[in-house]
Amino acid sequence: MDGRTIAHEPVLCGEVMEFVAPRPGEVVVDATVGHGGHARLFAQAIGESGRLIGLDVDPGNLERARARLFDGAYARPHIDLIRANFRELETVLDSLGLARVDVIFADLGVSTDQLLDPTRGLTFTEDGPLDMRLDDRLEETASDLVNALSENELSDLIFFNSQERFSRRIAKRICEVRRNGRIRTTQQLVRIVCSAVGSSPESRREKIHPATRTFLALRMAVNDEMGNLAALLEAAPRRLAPGGRIGVIAFHSGEDRVVKQDFLDRKRAALYEIATKKPIRPSSEEMQRNPRSRSAKLRVARRTDVGI
Ligand SMILES: C[S@@+](CC[C@H](N)C(=O)[O-])C[C@H]1O[C@@H](n2cnc3c(N)ncnc32)[C@H](O)[C@@H]1O
Repeated sequence: MDGRTIAHEPVLCGEVMEFVAPRPGEVVVDATVGHGGHARLFAQAIGESGRLIGLDVDPGNLERARARLFDGAYARPHIDLIRANFRELETVLDSLGLARVDVIFADLGVSTDQLLDPTRGLTFTEDGPLDMRLDDRLEETASDLVNALSENELSDLIFFNSQERFSRRIAKRICEVRRNGRIRTTQQLVRIVCSAVGSSPESRREKIHPATRTFLALRMAVNDEMGNLAALLEAAPRRLAPGGRIGVIAFHSGEDRVVKQDFLDRKRAALYEIATKKPIRPSSEEMQRNPRSRSAKLRVARRTDVGI
């Protein structure tokens, strides 16, 4: 399958527009511009007098966003599309001469085409190199990690990133197999995980593929996804204008917990008001139409004027 030809359907569009609510003339940062689905809606809402900054680590997705954002006749804002990790938000804003912005939005994780492209090694359904980097400038691949980390390090990485309860068995099996040669492909890893957990009656009761959590844990480690999120959340209150909004869509509970806690901490410090008391979930109609949306949770907070 060629992941390059697969479209990515943006999730929670109506809900994002309702709670993040970009207005004409505002400055919006889409920190994960992807295929530009949300960004196009932002661009239409802020109009000609607005400014949109779209970031992504994947140059292929930036090109897709470019095609979507510059397509068709509409009152287009000033648009900058920049290859950058959102953990560098402040450096990017400094380079554009922007002290503060009105919206910071992040739709975390990967786009559908990235997930399904076997050459990226993110999918366990097809064979490919065990790579998993969203940004090909990163030096370490998933293969580097599984071949270099100690058994304890691997077990902790898998457990803490995905709560995989068979993490010890999986780490042990990885270390046994790699004694016979380097682990290089996704299907090698799938076989290792299945042989490590396959005999367990619990694993057969699981609804998800036995390798799902191990793949998620490695992807998070290779791309330092929790570190990136923490850096973005840390920078946001320094860069949001009074009344500015931060919106984050998370796809797994670990990320959502971090976002929830960050917003609560800043609320206690009087820097944020929380706009979504509970996380916003997709409607059943959206979940049916786009099963990938099922685990999405949107949280939005508003910057007060304290400390500005
Ligand atoms: C779920 S997709 C976003 C889809 C987008 N909202 C749309 O409507 O098309 C996530 C995107 O974020 C990018 N990404 C992931 N981590 C990133 C990071 N730390 N900095 C910048 N981009 C990142 C991925 O490359 C991917 O294109």
